[in-house]
Amino acid sequence: MAPDRIPIGAPAQGRPGVVVLATGGTIAGAGASATRAGYAAGRVSVDAMLAAVPELADLAVVQGEQIANVGSQDMTFEIMIALANRINERLREAAVSGIVVTHGTDTMEETAFFLNLTVKSRKPVVMTGAMRPATALSADGPLNLFNAVAVAADPRAAGRGVLVVMNDRIHGAHSLSKTNTTSVETFLSPINGLIGTVNFGHCQYFRQPSRRHTDNSIFSLDGVSALPRVDILYACADMPADLVDGSVARDARGIVIAGDGNGNMNAATLAHAARAAAQGIVIVRSSRVPTGTVSRNVEIDDDRLRFIVSDELNPAKARILLMLALLEERRLEALQELFYTY
Ligand code: SIN
Repeated sequence: MAPDRIPIGAPAQGRPGVVVLATGGTIAGAGASATRAGYAAGRVSVDAMLAAVPELADLAVVQGEQIANVGSQDMTFEIMIALANRINERLREAAVSGIVVTHGTDTMEETAFFLNLTVKSRKPVVMTGAMRPATALSADGPLNLFNAVAVAADPRAAGRGVLVVMNDRIHGAHSLSKTNTTSVETFLSPINGLIGTVNFGHCQYFRQPSRRHTDNSIFSLDGVSALPRVDILYACADMPADLVDGSVARDARGIVIAGDGNGNMNAATLAHAARAAAQGIVIVRSSRVPTGTVSRNVEIDDDRLRFIVSDELNPAKARILLMLALLEERRLEALQELFYTY
């Protein structure tokens, strides 16, 4: 999937080297007109995307690579693994100061968190995308790309884990969530706040991410080509409890419950989940509520039922962490600790 290794060469005139790895999304989307909402994601090549923003040359020596060209609803772990491996490979080059990944916004937080756990470098890795396709009035992609390259080229961005730059904001991979279906101000970091801001390439940083990431992560993709199956079940009033049995029957190694409130579920689902946990399926309680933590032993006796809580992670990111964690044999206590650490 990834093209052959192309050395970026010596940085020209002191400018840093930034590699843009493109995966598709609305930033590479095209529609029939500038004002109609309809468009297809993943149509524009990385070379065309870079050529549309010649001002990038003021910031860095930029080189593009096409990793995939999909709407991010079609992002797969095969692509994520290839992307992480390619990032690790390119960041080993002395002339590469940072990486930008262009990606659809729908599942950007999942890929960002996956990379946050599997990239092995302190150099900046910055994801960006767009809410409006390249052909739309007021397309947001070009400025997002410019700002993302500015952050990737900035040595002050190093050591802050994988970042997401959208709409002048710099988010950390652990904390951000997509919150609006169409607005350019869609990403928020509701629990921990922003890492910083970037305005026409001028970067400001407020803090470090509080959780472990990248070069401090224990997770490795060495020899990994697939991940164990983990399902997400969305809790709701009168939830059908046999959804749990469906996941167990399809050999899920873990189930994340997108619970109501503080990770709750109805009594019937609780009973089925407890039975699955007793069979060795890892049950993680997360929440469908957009902000707040899920804590142990509040309304549900996690110690007795042998459940894990996701702490700050939303269901989609809790699933990513559990899939990586299940690559090795781990006791439940050790699994719970991972949710407090990453
Ligand atoms: C996608 O996630 O690929 C489509 C939506 C977007 O990029 O904003």
